[in-house]
Amino acid sequence: MSDIISINNLSKSYLVDGNEISVLRGISFGIPAGQFVAIMGPSGSGKSTLLYSLGLLDRPTSGEYFLDSKETSKLDDKQLAKIRNEKIGFIFQSFNLLRRTSVYDNVRVPLVYSKVPEEKHKEMVLNALESVGLDKKLFKKQPSQLSGGEQQRVAIARAVINNPAIILADEPTGNLDSKSGEMVMKVLQDLNKKGHTIILVTHETSTSEYAERIIHLLDGAVDSDKKVSGRRYIGEKEYSK
Ligand SMILES: Nc1ncnc2c1ncn2[C@@H]1O[C@H](COP(=O)(O)OP(=O)(O)O)[C@@H](O)[C@H]1O
Ligand SMILES: [Mg+2]
Repeated sequence: MSDIISINNLSKSYLVDGNEISVLRGISFGIPAGQFVAIMGPSGSGKSTLLYSLGLLDRPTSGEYFLDSKETSKLDDKQLAKIRNEKIGFIFQSFNLLRRTSVYDNVRVPLVYSKVPEEKHKEMVLNALESVGLDKKLFKKQPSQLSGGEQQRVAIARAVINNPAIILADEPTGNLDSKSGEMVMKVLQDLNKKGHTIILVTHETSTSEYAERIIHLLDGAVDSDKKVSGRRYIGEKEYSK
């Protein structure tokens, strides 16, 4: 099968004061390319740890992780960083934008890492801003001059500028009011329509229903894995500024 992500018996534990704490306990699933999946579960159930492992930002203790059919557990840090830059865009609850740095310089960070020639940056940044529904005129502003919803859309523009196959989002609406959160979910649905595989971590049922599949975690294990019936869609409407 053409699963873009396939994990088998993935486990993660930490040694805390000599005690082994199991955070992920033998998780297995496959995600077909182009799917929009939500990972739900109570606080502390291991959602972020799982997402960081899928994003190659964290190493599992045991188990297999095939990304595009390539087993990742034996790759070194440099190889993992290369795959991460090419295939994965990450979106965080707290946006993680660089302060006192323009929108333009924030969005083009991945281009600098992947050594895209500088003369291509401006057009790519403006296209990325357009794809998240942001006015191109914002490119000289600094994050502090923008609303939370705008800042998160700048962070999404940064995540997609290299056209990654996979977008991972950890509670991306967690710091936003409901209207801004809805806008962020529309941007993610639009990116999914363009073919990006999306994995969204959320503890809000209403947010998870924008996905087509919901995987519930409980105490570091998969509790349920279901298709969403009555999926939420956000209609075409103008983004408000
Ligand atoms: N570096 C760490 N050392 C020890 N325990 C950790 C570490 N990171 C996370 N944990 C523990 O792992 C559990 C799951 O954390 P997390 O993945 O952040 O859950 P969630 O995102 O579902 O709230 C929590 O109990 C947390 O305290
Ligand atoms: Mg978390």
